[in-house]
This record gives sequence, structure tokens and C-alpha cells, in this order.
Amino acid sequence: MAKDKKKNKKNRKNKKSGKLEAFDKYAYYIRAVQSPEVDCQFASDTYKELSGGRPRILREDFCGTFGICCAWVRRNKANRAIGIDLDNEPITYGTEHYLSELSEEQASRVTIKQASVLDARVPKADVTLALNFSFFLFKKRAELLQYFKRAHAGLSPKGVFITDAFGGKDCQEGNMEHTKFEDFTYFWEQKSFDPVTNEALFHIHFKRKGEKARRKVFTYDWRMWTIPELRELMAEAGFKRTHVYWEGTTRSGEGNGEFKRVEKGEECDGWVAYIVGEA
Ligand SMILES: C[S@@+](CC[C@H](N)C(=O)[O-])C[C@H]1O[C@@H](n2cnc3c(N)ncnc32)[C@H](O)[C@@H]1O
Repeated sequence: MAKDKKKNKKNRKNKKSGKLEAFDKYAYYIRAVQSPEVDCQFASDTYKELSGGRPRILREDFCGTFGICCAWVRRNKANRAIGIDLDNEPITYGTEHYLSELSEEQASRVTIKQASVLDARVPKADVTLALNFSFFLFKKRAELLQYFKRAHAGLSPKGVFITDAFGGKDCQEGNMEHTKFEDFTYFWEQKSFDPVTNEALFHIHFKRKGEKARRKVFTYDWRMWTIPELRELMAEAGFKRTHVYWEGTTRSGEGNGEFKRVEKGEECDGWVAYIVGEA
């Protein structure tokens, strides 16, 4: 029987609780979906495994509120972080809520660029992260190839590019998943899937206890890229080797949160994997 490791594709990690007064979409988003420290640890471990040594300069593409950049400079005095995002709204939120929590010295090691990842000019990075499937917004092969070429060109000689993808038959039809937190419920809705184009529409909804659901707080109009497509495009973009990190499975068939480099996957109704390229 195929396993369903990923009941909540955008909710694989952090389930911290805490109370907030006003509805703050980014605060609920980070609690439901993100885990910057875990991402930094994965970046560090993967670089060490593939390139040896410690990465110092981390670049966060599609950085949004740039939580990973802030976590990265906290980890070590020698670490520097560069975040790139097109949208001023999450950047301002990150500046007011996360950058402001750093010491002046830590904050001085974070650089945020409001620009497109397709043409931003930033210093070369040891490790570049593009997480939470953000590049799925590029629906054309030529566009995604251009992005992977930029990501490759932006790496130091032993640099590593880490991105993620999800899929499985559960992602080929409309469905709604939910996760209950102490004070709110998070909904990940797949509204549609088109097998002709592999395009799919997703929404995030939140419902706080005692309140009506807030619908479509975030919407994603994506192309579901497959792992072989991604690896072929990365090779074409110049990456000398690509790897897939596949999640281990608990006895009950759920993902266990531990990702290991594999040559072969396994049947799975819903999966998330890291796709990694060596410069
Ligand atoms: C799904 S959010 C990801 C936020 C965060 N990285 C995370 O892991 O949750 C996608 C982000 O990509 C940004 N974005 C979209 N197109 C972009 C582009 N061409 N260059 C840079 N950022 C872009 C959006 O503004 C948005 O903040």
C-alpha cells in the first residue's frame, strides 16, 4: 500500500503555540509552515556532507519575511546572510519583527534585496536555499532554467543549492488538509489540478478558535514540477551533480522529518523532498 508521508505539505515542522491578539497572517504562517532553525541545520549539514567544511554565506531566495537569514546570523559570528524577495510587504514585516530581535552586530550581517531572483546582483553564497516550493511559480521551462542558471552563477566554487519539491497522487486532485494548533487551525487546500499543464492552485486558510475562518490568506498558482524535470534542468543550468534527499518513514507511514540522500524513491501518496545541486 502506498504511504502518505505528507498529510500537510506546507506543515511539516514547527507546532509551537502562543497567543496573539490581532490577526497577523505572517505570525500564523511561520507557526504553521516554517522552521528557520531546522532549515539552517539542514543547509549546514548538507554543505558539510557534499563540500566539506562549514558554509558561511547563506542566500535565501524568495525570502519573504527572511526568517532563515535571521536564524543563520544568530548561529555563528562568522555567518552572513543575503535575502532576496520581490515584495516589500514581507520584507518590511521581517525587518520589524525578526531583524529587530537581533543585536545590532547580528543585524549588520544580514542584507536584504528587494529584487527578482532572476536578475538580483548579490555576493556569491556558499549555500543558497529556495524553500517552500517557491520556484513552482515559474511555469515555463525557459523561466525555471533561467532561475537555476542564476542560482548556479550565484554560488561560490564549492557552493550548494538547496530547494524542495512535493508531489504524489494526492496532489493530482482537489483536496483540503487541516492541522489543529492550540489556538487555531491551519488549512492547506488544493483547489485544482490540470493534468494537461500540471498546474495547480492552492490556498492557505486559518481559523482561530471562536472566530470564522479567514479564507485565502495566501494563494499559490503553481506548476507541479517533477523531480526528474528539476534534476535535468539543474544539470542544464550548470550544476555538476544533483541529489535527492528523501524523507524517512515512521511505522505508521508518516514522514519522520529525517531526510537522507537516495538513488531511488518509494511509492508514496504524498511526499516532500529536497533537491540539491552542487555548483
Ligand atoms: C511562497 S512565498 C515563500 C516565503 C518563504 N521563503 C517561505 O519559505 O515560506 C514566495 C515568495 O516569493 C516572492 N517572489 C515571487 N516571485 C519572485 C521573484 N521573481 N524574485 C524574488 N522573489 C519572488 C514572493 O514575494 C513571496 O514572498
